[in-house]
Amino acid sequence: MIDGYLFKVTISLTTQSYLVSNLSSNLKLVESVCERVVSKFNELFGEADVITRSPGRINLLGEHVDYNDGFVMPAAINFSTYFCLSESRSSTSRIYSLKYNESIEIDSYNPQRLNKPVWANFLLGVLRQLVDRGYNTKPFHCVFDGDIPTGAGLSSSASVECGFVYSLNELNDWRIPKKDLMDIAQWSEHFYVGVKCGIMDQFASVMSIKDSVVVLDCRSMEYRYLPLSLTEHKLVLFDSKVKHSLVDSEYNVRREECEQGVEILKKINPTIKSLRDVTESMLADSKALVGNKIFDRCLYVVQEISRVQHATDDIAKNNLMAFGKKMFETHEGLSKLYQVSCPELDFLVDEAHANPSVLGSRMMGGGFGGCTINIIKKTAMQKFVNDLKVKYANRFGFEMVPYYVTIEEGAHTVVNKTKNFSILA
Ligand code: GLA
Repeated sequence: MIDGYLFKVTISLTTQSYLVSNLSSNLKLVESVCERVVSKFNELFGEADVITRSPGRINLLGEHVDYNDGFVMPAAINFSTYFCLSESRSSTSRIYSLKYNESIEIDSYNPQRLNKPVWANFLLGVLRQLVDRGYNTKPFHCVFDGDIPTGAGLSSSASVECGFVYSLNELNDWRIPKKDLMDIAQWSEHFYVGVKCGIMDQFASVMSIKDSVVVLDCRSMEYRYLPLSLTEHKLVLFDSKVKHSLVDSEYNVRREECEQGVEILKKINPTIKSLRDVTESMLADSKALVGNKIFDRCLYVVQEISRVQHATDDIAKNNLMAFGKKMFETHEGLSKLYQVSCPELDFLVDEAHANPSVLGSRMMGGGFGGCTINIIKKTAMQKFVNDLKVKYANRFGFEMVPYYVTIEEGAHTVVNKTKNFSILA
Protein backbone atom coordinates (compact mmCIF):
# COMPACT_ATOMS: atom_id res chain seq x y z
CA MET A 1 0.00 0.00 0.00
CA ILE A 2 1.32 3.40 -0.85
CA ASP A 3 1.67 5.43 2.25
CA GLY A 4 -0.73 8.36 2.61
CA TYR A 5 -0.86 10.20 -0.60
CA LEU A 6 0.14 8.41 -3.74
CA PHE A 7 2.48 10.55 -5.77
CA LYS A 8 5.35 12.52 -4.32
CA VAL A 9 7.52 15.05 -6.13
CA THR A 10 9.44 12.34 -7.87
CA ILE A 11 7.88 8.98 -8.38
CA SER A 12 10.10 6.60 -6.48
CA LEU A 13 11.18 3.24 -7.80
CA THR A 14 8.93 1.56 -5.25
CA THR A 15 5.98 3.55 -6.55
CA GLN A 16 6.84 2.69 -10.11
CA SER A 17 6.91 -1.01 -9.42
CA TYR A 18 3.68 -0.61 -7.49
CA LEU A 19 2.13 1.03 -10.52
CA VAL A 20 3.35 -1.70 -12.81
CA SER A 21 2.02 -4.49 -10.65
CA ASN A 22 -1.28 -2.97 -9.62
CA LEU A 23 -2.73 -0.95 -12.43
CA SER A 24 -4.99 -2.44 -15.05
CA SER A 25 -3.24 -3.53 -18.21
CA ASN A 26 -4.57 -0.44 -19.89
CA LEU A 27 -3.14 1.90 -17.34
CA LYS A 28 0.17 0.07 -17.56
CA LEU A 29 0.38 1.04 -21.20
CA VAL A 30 -0.14 4.70 -20.47
CA GLU A 31 1.41 4.90 -17.03
CA SER A 32 4.20 7.00 -18.43
CA VAL A 33 1.63 9.65 -19.35
CA CYS A 34 0.12 9.55 -15.88
CA GLU A 35 3.56 9.74 -14.31
CA ARG A 36 4.56 12.62 -16.53
CA VAL A 37 1.50 14.62 -15.58
CA VAL A 38 1.87 13.90 -11.88
CA SER A 39 5.53 14.70 -11.85
CA LYS A 40 5.00 18.03 -13.64
CA PHE A 41 2.21 18.87 -11.24
CA ASN A 42 4.47 18.12 -8.29
CA GLU A 43 7.18 20.33 -9.75
CA LEU A 44 4.84 23.28 -10.37
CA PHE A 45 2.22 23.07 -7.65
CA GLY A 46 3.07 20.37 -5.10
CA GLU A 47 0.71 17.49 -4.35
CA ALA A 48 -2.46 16.98 -6.37
CA ASP A 49 -5.83 16.46 -4.71
CA VAL A 50 -7.40 14.81 -7.73
CA ILE A 51 -6.04 12.67 -10.58
CA THR A 52 -8.43 11.55 -13.31
CA ARG A 53 -8.29 9.65 -16.57
CA SER A 54 -10.50 10.46 -19.55
CA PRO A 55 -10.28 8.18 -22.62
CA GLY A 56 -10.52 8.63 -26.37
CA ARG A 57 -12.99 6.48 -28.29
CA ILE A 58 -13.56 4.26 -31.24
CA ASN A 59 -16.88 3.87 -32.99
CA LEU A 60 -17.79 0.44 -34.32
CA LEU A 61 -20.64 1.63 -36.51
CA GLY A 62 -22.98 4.62 -36.84
CA GLU A 63 -20.90 7.42 -38.32
CA HIS A 64 -22.26 10.94 -38.83
CA VAL A 65 -25.63 9.86 -37.50
CA ASP A 66 -25.47 11.14 -33.92
CA TYR A 67 -26.53 14.63 -35.02
CA ASN A 68 -29.29 13.03 -37.11
CA ASP A 69 -30.99 11.31 -34.15
CA GLY A 70 -29.53 7.94 -35.16
CA PHE A 71 -27.83 5.07 -33.33
CA VAL A 72 -24.11 4.84 -32.63
CA MET A 73 -21.82 2.11 -31.24
CA PRO A 74 -18.82 3.77 -29.60
CA ALA A 75 -16.45 2.52 -26.90
CA ALA A 76 -13.69 4.13 -24.83
CA ILE A 77 -10.14 2.98 -25.50
CA ASN A 78 -6.69 2.59 -24.00
CA PHE A 79 -5.55 6.05 -25.13
CA SER A 80 -6.47 8.87 -22.80
CA THR A 81 -5.87 12.23 -21.15
CA TYR A 82 -4.79 12.55 -17.52
CA PHE A 83 -5.61 15.51 -15.30
CA CYS A 84 -4.03 16.49 -12.00
CA LEU A 85 -5.70 19.18 -9.91
CA SER A 86 -5.53 20.77 -6.53
CA GLU A 87 -7.14 23.72 -4.84
CA SER A 88 -5.03 26.85 -5.24
CA ARG A 89 -4.12 28.73 -2.10
CA SER A 90 -4.24 32.04 -3.95
CA SER A 91 -7.32 33.48 -5.60
CA THR A 92 -6.13 32.65 -9.13
CA SER A 93 -6.46 29.49 -11.16
CA ARG A 94 -3.78 28.18 -13.51
CA ILE A 95 -3.89 25.44 -16.14
CA TYR A 96 -0.74 23.95 -17.62
CA SER A 97 -0.71 21.95 -20.85
CA LEU A 98 2.20 19.56 -20.72
CA LYS A 99 1.86 18.80 -24.41
CA TYR A 100 2.30 22.45 -25.38
CA ASN A 101 4.53 23.29 -22.42
CA GLU A 102 2.43 26.34 -21.85
CA SER A 103 0.22 27.62 -19.07
CA ILE A 104 -2.63 30.11 -18.73
CA GLU A 105 -3.95 31.99 -15.78
CA ILE A 106 -7.71 32.14 -15.85
CA ASP A 107 -10.49 34.15 -14.38
CA SER A 108 -12.68 31.24 -13.30
CA TYR A 109 -15.56 33.62 -12.47
CA ASN A 110 -15.76 35.01 -15.97
CA PRO A 111 -13.98 32.70 -18.44
CA GLN A 112 -13.78 34.05 -21.98
CA ARG A 113 -12.80 32.49 -25.30
CA LEU A 114 -9.19 33.31 -26.32
CA ASN A 115 -7.58 33.71 -29.71
CA LYS A 116 -4.49 31.98 -28.34
CA PRO A 117 -3.56 29.43 -27.16
CA VAL A 118 -6.13 27.37 -29.03
CA TRP A 119 -5.92 24.41 -26.58
CA ALA A 120 -7.20 26.64 -23.78
CA ASN A 121 -10.61 27.09 -25.39
CA PHE A 122 -11.54 23.43 -24.89
CA LEU A 123 -11.23 24.07 -21.14
CA LEU A 124 -12.46 27.65 -21.04
CA GLY A 125 -15.70 26.62 -22.74
CA VAL A 126 -16.23 24.03 -20.02
CA LEU A 127 -15.64 26.66 -17.33
CA ARG A 128 -17.98 29.10 -19.07
CA GLN A 129 -20.78 26.54 -19.10
CA LEU A 130 -20.17 25.65 -15.47
CA VAL A 131 -20.39 29.31 -14.44
CA ASP A 132 -23.53 29.80 -16.54
CA ARG A 133 -25.10 26.81 -14.79
CA GLY A 134 -24.23 28.24 -11.38
CA TYR A 135 -21.13 26.15 -10.61
CA ASN A 136 -18.32 28.43 -9.46
CA THR A 137 -15.18 26.45 -8.88
CA LYS A 138 -12.76 27.09 -6.06
CA PRO A 139 -9.48 28.48 -7.42
CA PHE A 140 -7.42 25.55 -8.69
CA HIS A 141 -4.21 24.41 -10.32
CA CYS A 142 -4.30 21.91 -13.15
CA VAL A 143 -1.81 20.02 -15.32
CA PHE A 144 -2.96 17.74 -18.13
CA ASP A 145 -1.58 15.66 -20.97
CA GLY A 146 -2.51 12.57 -22.94
CA ASP A 147 -1.45 10.03 -25.53
CA ILE A 148 -4.46 10.25 -27.86
CA PRO A 149 -3.14 11.15 -31.30
CA THR A 150 -4.75 14.45 -32.30
CA GLY A 151 -6.59 14.75 -35.60
CA ALA A 152 -6.82 10.96 -35.83
CA GLY A 153 -10.57 10.75 -35.25
CA LEU A 154 -10.15 9.29 -31.73
CA SER A 155 -11.88 12.18 -29.99
CA SER A 156 -8.96 13.72 -28.22
CA SER A 157 -10.97 16.93 -27.86
CA ALA A 158 -13.95 15.28 -26.13
CA SER A 159 -11.48 13.47 -23.89
CA VAL A 160 -10.03 16.83 -22.78
CA GLU A 161 -13.41 18.52 -22.33
CA CYS A 162 -15.00 15.59 -20.52
CA GLY A 163 -11.92 14.95 -18.41
CA PHE A 164 -11.76 18.57 -17.32
CA VAL A 165 -15.41 18.89 -16.33
CA TYR A 166 -15.20 15.49 -14.63
CA SER A 167 -12.11 16.63 -12.69
CA LEU A 168 -13.65 19.92 -11.53
CA ASN A 169 -16.75 18.02 -10.48
CA GLU A 170 -14.53 15.80 -8.32
CA LEU A 171 -12.45 18.64 -6.92
CA ASN A 172 -15.52 20.66 -5.91
CA ASP A 173 -17.66 17.64 -5.01
CA TRP A 174 -20.55 19.07 -7.00
CA ARG A 175 -22.04 15.68 -7.95
CA ILE A 176 -23.19 16.89 -11.34
CA PRO A 177 -25.16 14.15 -13.17
CA LYS A 178 -23.20 12.43 -15.95
CA LYS A 179 -25.61 13.60 -18.64
CA ASP A 180 -24.90 17.21 -17.65
CA LEU A 181 -21.15 16.58 -17.74
CA MET A 182 -21.52 15.46 -21.35
CA ASP A 183 -23.71 18.42 -22.25
CA ILE A 184 -21.24 20.87 -20.73
CA ALA A 185 -18.39 19.27 -22.70
CA GLN A 186 -20.44 19.34 -25.91
CA TRP A 187 -21.32 23.01 -25.35
CA SER A 188 -17.64 23.84 -25.17
CA GLU A 189 -17.01 22.03 -28.46
CA HIS A 190 -19.90 23.87 -30.14
CA PHE A 191 -19.27 27.38 -28.89
CA TYR A 192 -15.62 27.70 -27.83
CA VAL A 193 -14.05 25.26 -30.30
CA GLY A 194 -16.51 25.79 -33.14
CA VAL A 195 -17.51 22.25 -34.13
CA LYS A 196 -21.23 21.49 -34.11
CA CYS A 197 -20.60 17.90 -33.09
CA GLY A 198 -23.17 15.37 -31.97
CA ILE A 199 -23.13 13.76 -28.53
CA MET A 200 -21.39 10.47 -29.39
CA ASP A 201 -17.84 11.37 -28.36
CA GLN A 202 -18.77 12.90 -25.03
CA PHE A 203 -21.11 10.00 -24.29
CA ALA A 204 -18.41 7.44 -25.03
CA SER A 205 -15.80 9.28 -23.01
CA VAL A 206 -18.03 9.51 -19.93
CA MET A 207 -20.25 6.41 -20.07
CA SER A 208 -18.18 3.57 -21.53
CA ILE A 209 -17.44 0.37 -19.65
CA LYS A 210 -14.68 -2.16 -20.22
CA ASP A 211 -15.03 -4.71 -23.04
CA SER A 212 -18.47 -3.53 -24.20
CA VAL A 213 -19.65 -1.17 -26.87
CA VAL A 214 -22.32 1.35 -26.01
CA VAL A 215 -25.39 1.25 -28.22
CA LEU A 216 -26.78 4.75 -27.92
CA ASP A 217 -30.03 6.04 -29.36
CA CYS A 218 -29.11 9.68 -29.94
CA ARG A 219 -32.77 10.68 -30.08
CA SER A 220 -34.03 9.28 -26.77
CA MET A 221 -30.55 9.06 -25.22
CA GLU A 222 -31.43 5.53 -24.14
CA TYR A 223 -28.43 3.25 -24.17
CA ARG A 224 -27.30 -0.27 -23.43
CA TYR A 225 -23.99 -2.06 -23.23
CA LEU A 226 -23.22 -4.83 -25.66
CA PRO A 227 -20.28 -7.07 -24.70
CA LEU A 228 -17.87 -7.37 -27.61
CA SER A 229 -16.30 -10.76 -27.88
CA LEU A 230 -13.68 -10.70 -30.60
CA THR A 231 -12.37 -14.23 -29.87
CA GLU A 232 -9.61 -14.84 -32.43
CA HIS A 233 -9.79 -11.30 -33.81
CA LYS A 234 -8.40 -7.95 -32.85
CA LEU A 235 -9.40 -4.33 -33.28
CA VAL A 236 -6.68 -2.39 -35.05
CA LEU A 237 -6.74 1.21 -36.19
CA PHE A 238 -4.68 2.42 -39.13
CA ASP A 239 -3.79 6.08 -38.81
CA SER A 240 -3.52 7.51 -42.32
CA LYS A 241 -1.56 10.40 -40.79
CA VAL A 242 -3.62 12.72 -42.91
CA LYS A 243 -4.56 15.32 -40.34
CA HIS A 244 -8.10 16.45 -40.22
CA SER A 245 -9.33 19.49 -38.48
CA LEU A 246 -13.06 19.28 -37.98
CA VAL A 247 -13.19 23.05 -37.69
CA ASP A 248 -11.54 23.62 -41.04
CA SER A 249 -13.18 20.62 -42.62
CA GLU A 250 -16.64 20.22 -43.95
CA TYR A 251 -18.07 18.68 -40.78
CA ASN A 252 -20.38 21.60 -40.06
CA VAL A 253 -21.32 21.73 -43.75
CA ARG A 254 -22.41 18.08 -43.66
CA ARG A 255 -24.59 18.80 -40.67
CA GLU A 256 -26.18 21.75 -42.47
CA GLU A 257 -26.78 19.63 -45.57
CA CYS A 258 -28.67 17.08 -43.48
CA GLU A 259 -30.73 19.88 -41.95
CA GLN A 260 -31.51 21.25 -45.40
CA GLY A 261 -32.71 17.80 -46.44
CA VAL A 262 -34.98 17.60 -43.39
CA GLU A 263 -36.42 21.07 -44.09
CA ILE A 264 -37.41 20.02 -47.61
CA LEU A 265 -38.80 16.63 -46.57
CA LYS A 266 -40.79 18.26 -43.76
CA LYS A 267 -42.77 20.23 -46.30
CA ILE A 268 -44.02 16.98 -47.79
CA ASN A 269 -44.46 15.18 -44.49
CA PRO A 270 -44.70 17.49 -41.46
CA THR A 271 -44.22 14.61 -39.01
CA ILE A 272 -40.55 14.39 -40.03
CA LYS A 273 -38.34 15.89 -37.34
CA SER A 274 -34.98 14.49 -38.41
CA LEU A 275 -33.49 11.94 -40.82
CA ARG A 276 -34.37 9.29 -38.23
CA ASP A 277 -37.98 9.66 -39.41
CA VAL A 278 -37.12 9.19 -43.09
CA THR A 279 -37.09 5.93 -45.05
CA GLU A 280 -35.25 5.19 -48.29
CA SER A 281 -38.50 5.12 -50.25
CA MET A 282 -39.66 8.47 -48.82
CA LEU A 283 -36.33 9.88 -49.87
CA ALA A 284 -36.50 8.35 -53.34
CA ASP A 285 -39.95 9.90 -53.85
CA SER A 286 -38.52 13.33 -53.06
CA LYS A 287 -35.27 13.06 -55.02
CA ALA A 288 -36.19 15.74 -57.52
CA LEU A 289 -37.06 18.16 -54.73
CA VAL A 290 -33.98 17.67 -52.59
CA GLY A 291 -31.48 17.59 -55.47
CA ASN A 292 -28.65 15.10 -56.06
CA LYS A 293 -26.13 16.24 -53.49
CA ILE A 294 -28.53 16.52 -50.54
CA PHE A 295 -30.16 13.26 -51.68
CA ASP A 296 -26.82 11.44 -51.45
CA ARG A 297 -26.06 12.87 -48.00
CA CYS A 298 -29.50 11.92 -46.68
CA LEU A 299 -29.40 8.49 -48.30
CA TYR A 300 -26.16 7.64 -46.54
CA VAL A 301 -27.59 8.74 -43.16
CA VAL A 302 -30.89 6.87 -43.60
CA GLN A 303 -29.02 3.70 -44.62
CA GLU A 304 -26.52 4.01 -41.77
CA ILE A 305 -29.23 4.46 -39.13
CA SER A 306 -30.92 1.29 -40.33
CA ARG A 307 -27.58 -0.56 -40.66
CA VAL A 308 -26.65 0.05 -37.02
CA GLN A 309 -29.97 -1.36 -35.84
CA HIS A 310 -29.26 -4.60 -37.70
CA ALA A 311 -25.61 -4.60 -36.68
CA THR A 312 -26.43 -4.75 -32.98
CA ASP A 313 -27.96 -8.18 -33.66
CA ASP A 314 -24.75 -9.28 -35.34
CA ILE A 315 -22.76 -8.36 -32.25
CA ALA A 316 -25.32 -9.90 -29.90
CA LYS A 317 -25.13 -13.15 -31.92
CA ASN A 318 -21.37 -12.85 -32.21
CA ASN A 319 -21.63 -12.86 -35.99
CA LEU A 320 -18.51 -10.86 -36.72
CA MET A 321 -18.58 -11.77 -40.43
CA ALA A 322 -21.95 -10.10 -40.89
CA PHE A 323 -20.88 -7.16 -38.78
CA GLY A 324 -17.66 -6.71 -40.76
CA LYS A 325 -19.60 -6.69 -44.02
CA LYS A 326 -21.63 -3.78 -42.70
CA MET A 327 -18.43 -1.90 -41.85
CA PHE A 328 -17.38 -2.11 -45.52
CA GLU A 329 -20.84 -0.91 -46.58
CA THR A 330 -20.57 2.03 -44.21
CA HIS A 331 -17.25 3.00 -45.70
CA GLU A 332 -18.67 2.88 -49.19
CA GLY A 333 -21.46 5.22 -48.11
CA LEU A 334 -19.13 7.60 -46.28
CA SER A 335 -16.81 7.73 -49.26
CA LYS A 336 -19.25 7.90 -52.20
CA LEU A 337 -22.44 9.43 -50.79
CA TYR A 338 -21.38 11.42 -47.76
CA GLN A 339 -17.97 12.26 -49.23
CA VAL A 340 -16.00 12.55 -46.02
CA SER A 341 -13.23 10.09 -46.93
CA CYS A 342 -9.96 10.74 -48.76
CA PRO A 343 -7.70 8.69 -51.09
CA GLU A 344 -5.51 7.51 -48.21
CA LEU A 345 -8.46 6.15 -46.19
CA ASP A 346 -10.00 4.57 -49.30
CA PHE A 347 -6.69 2.88 -50.03
CA LEU A 348 -6.46 1.43 -46.50
CA VAL A 349 -10.01 0.11 -46.69
CA ASP A 350 -9.55 -1.32 -50.20
CA GLU A 351 -6.45 -3.20 -49.10
CA ALA A 352 -8.33 -4.53 -46.09
CA HIS A 353 -11.24 -5.59 -48.28
CA ALA A 354 -8.93 -7.57 -50.52
CA ASN A 355 -7.61 -9.60 -47.57
CA PRO A 356 -9.83 -12.44 -46.29
CA SER A 357 -8.32 -12.13 -42.80
CA VAL A 358 -9.93 -8.73 -42.37
CA LEU A 359 -13.59 -9.09 -41.42
CA GLY A 360 -14.42 -5.40 -41.64
CA SER A 361 -12.81 -2.03 -42.23
CA ARG A 362 -13.98 1.55 -42.60
CA MET A 363 -12.97 5.11 -41.96
CA MET A 364 -13.87 6.23 -38.46
CA GLY A 365 -14.91 9.54 -36.90
CA GLY A 366 -15.43 12.85 -38.66
CA GLY A 367 -13.31 11.86 -41.65
CA PHE A 368 -11.16 13.78 -44.17
CA GLY A 369 -8.20 11.85 -42.75
CA GLY A 370 -7.59 10.15 -39.42
CA CYS A 371 -7.98 6.42 -38.89
CA THR A 372 -9.67 3.37 -40.29
CA ILE A 373 -11.02 0.80 -37.84
CA ASN A 374 -10.44 -2.86 -38.68
CA ILE A 375 -11.40 -6.26 -37.30
CA ILE A 376 -8.54 -8.59 -38.17
CA LYS A 377 -7.83 -12.25 -37.52
CA LYS A 378 -5.06 -12.40 -34.89
CA THR A 379 -2.98 -15.04 -36.69
CA ALA A 380 -2.78 -13.02 -39.89
CA MET A 381 -2.56 -9.61 -38.28
CA GLN A 382 1.14 -8.92 -38.08
CA LYS A 383 1.84 -9.91 -41.68
CA PHE A 384 -1.08 -7.85 -42.93
CA VAL A 385 0.01 -4.80 -40.94
CA ASN A 386 3.63 -5.07 -42.08
CA ASP A 387 2.69 -5.50 -45.75
CA LEU A 388 0.20 -2.64 -45.57
CA LYS A 389 2.76 -0.30 -44.06
CA VAL A 390 5.10 -0.93 -46.97
CA LYS A 391 2.37 -0.56 -49.61
CA TYR A 392 1.06 2.61 -48.00
CA ALA A 393 4.49 4.23 -47.80
CA ASN A 394 5.20 3.29 -51.42
CA ARG A 395 1.91 4.73 -52.56
CA PHE A 396 1.76 7.97 -50.55
CA GLY A 397 5.34 8.64 -49.52
CA PHE A 398 4.63 8.71 -45.78
CA GLU A 399 3.91 6.18 -43.06
CA MET A 400 0.63 4.88 -41.74
CA VAL A 401 0.68 3.98 -38.05
CA PRO A 402 -1.21 1.04 -36.51
CA TYR A 403 -2.81 1.35 -33.05
CA TYR A 404 -3.86 -1.81 -31.23
CA VAL A 405 -6.88 -0.83 -29.20
CA THR A 406 -8.65 -2.37 -26.26
CA ILE A 407 -12.01 -1.30 -24.88
CA GLU A 408 -11.76 0.43 -21.54
CA GLU A 409 -13.75 2.24 -18.91
CA GLY A 410 -14.96 5.82 -19.44
CA ALA A 411 -13.78 8.87 -17.48
CA HIS A 412 -12.87 7.92 -13.93
CA THR A 413 -11.07 9.01 -10.83
CA VAL A 414 -7.61 7.62 -10.28
CA VAL A 415 -7.02 9.44 -7.02
CA ASN A 416 -9.16 11.79 -4.93
CA LYS A 417 -7.25 12.75 -1.85
CA THR A 418 -10.19 14.69 -0.38
CA LYS A 419 -12.26 11.48 -0.38
CA ASN A 420 -9.34 9.27 0.53
CA PHE A 421 -9.97 7.40 -2.72
CA SER A 422 -7.43 5.75 -4.98
CA ILE A 423 -7.78 2.96 -7.51
CA LEU A 424 -4.12 2.37 -6.85
CA ALA A 425 -4.36 1.78 -3.13
C1 GLA B 1 -17.02 13.61 -34.72
C2 GLA B 1 -18.11 14.25 -33.88
C3 GLA B 1 -19.17 13.22 -33.48
C4 GLA B 1 -19.67 12.43 -34.68
C5 GLA B 1 -18.50 11.92 -35.51
C6 GLA B 1 -18.96 11.28 -36.78
O1 GLA B 1 -16.29 12.70 -33.94
O2 GLA B 1 -17.58 14.84 -32.72
O3 GLA B 1 -20.24 13.86 -32.82
O4 GLA B 1 -20.56 13.19 -35.45
O5 GLA B 1 -17.57 12.95 -35.83
O6 GLA B 1 -19.71 10.17 -36.50
